[in-house]
Amino acid sequence: AVVPVILCGGSGTRLWPVSRRDFAKQHVPILGGESPFQRTLQRIAATGLVGTPIVITSVGERFLAADQAAKAGVPIEIVLEPERRDTLPAIAVAAELAARRDPEAMALILPSDHLIPDFDAFARTVHAAAAAAAQGDLVTFGLTPTKPATSYGYIRPGALNGSGSRHIEAFEEKPTAERAAALIAEGCLWNSGMFCFQAKAGIKAIETYAPETAKAVARALAQGEDDLGALRIGPAFADAPKISFDYGIMEKTDRAVVVEADFEWSDIGDWREIWEQSAKDESGVALEGEAVALDVRNSYLRSDGRLVCALGVENIAVVDTPDAVLVAPLDRTQEVKDLVGKLAAQG
Ligand code: GDD
Ligand code: MG
Repeated sequence: AVVPVILCGGSGTRLWPVSRRDFAKQHVPILGGESPFQRTLQRIAATGLVGTPIVITSVGERFLAADQAAKAGVPIEIVLEPERRDTLPAIAVAAELAARRDPEAMALILPSDHLIPDFDAFARTVHAAAAAAAQGDLVTFGLTPTKPATSYGYIRPGALNGSGSRHIEAFEEKPTAERAAALIAEGCLWNSGMFCFQAKAGIKAIETYAPETAKAVARALAQGEDDLGALRIGPAFADAPKISFDYGIMEKTDRAVVVEADFEWSDIGDWREIWEQSAKDESGVALEGEAVALDVRNSYLRSDGRLVCALGVENIAVVDTPDAVLVAPLDRTQEVKDLVGKLAAQG
């Protein structure tokens, strides 16, 4: 059986002021009032895979996750991390729990902050990835880059395997724009951050390349307790080094392969990407909530309550929340994280 695992961590810096520490971007309602997390659950359901998704999240976001899953009509199993340790420790927990469900289980690891509008194409790719993973490989989903993005990892694909996947020759995480353009010219793919592997193959790789993580996670699971129906992982989890699965495992193993995905995809890195994905009028204006625009072009106006009005501006993002307002040029919304850094420094 395939056990879907949703990584639901991350912090709320890039979509500030809507996303906050305990309201990360995967839970922000966008696109018709639904969040990327809810869309992820629905996308999994549409693949026809039957296993209940395991959602790995924090205490601060658990009720939000449970509530949104209930609204999406998808039952989930919640696992609570005592603290965020990046993706490797979370995936190590997931692999172990998947293997407990079924020793032959296949783990399908999905970030919660992606938009993939085409559910059918996603389902096809998942089945192709599962077939490749059945060989014991650790499969990542590679996407054809559409721009020299600096917020993604890149994969250099190598020779084709019998199972339709390609060996991975190299990873390069978050290059500069110049380097990204060169990588794209060489035929590199975006690393989507989605993975598929046999739970036992994942566990073995983690024991081999990240033994400290394997030990900390084993202890943390032994300390695990039921917390209102969720599994709360024990304090030993904090002993797992803070590192991503990409750096900690995929870059080290010789079993890393890539399956090419042919769907439209975005990890909604900033307000500009949300604007791009939103329905817009003929002037390129996207309105969310109580917002009115006159003689405005290529802009995103969002209100979570108050009336937001704009006149005679262009290329602007205005995001209003009860306690904070963001105004920024639409092509600089990547820098919102620096703004949040400045806020944090000021206390
Ligand atoms: N449970 C849990 N705990 N989830 C986490 C944690 C954690 O400590 N840290 C991150 N996550 C979740 C995030 O919520 C997200 O869904 C996913 O894991 C990936 O983490 P990000 O922090 O969003 O990573 P990234 O976007 O910078 O980079 C990764 O994803 C890109 C594609 O979106 C890398 O894999 C890149 O190579 C890739 O291109
Ligand atoms: Mg991300």
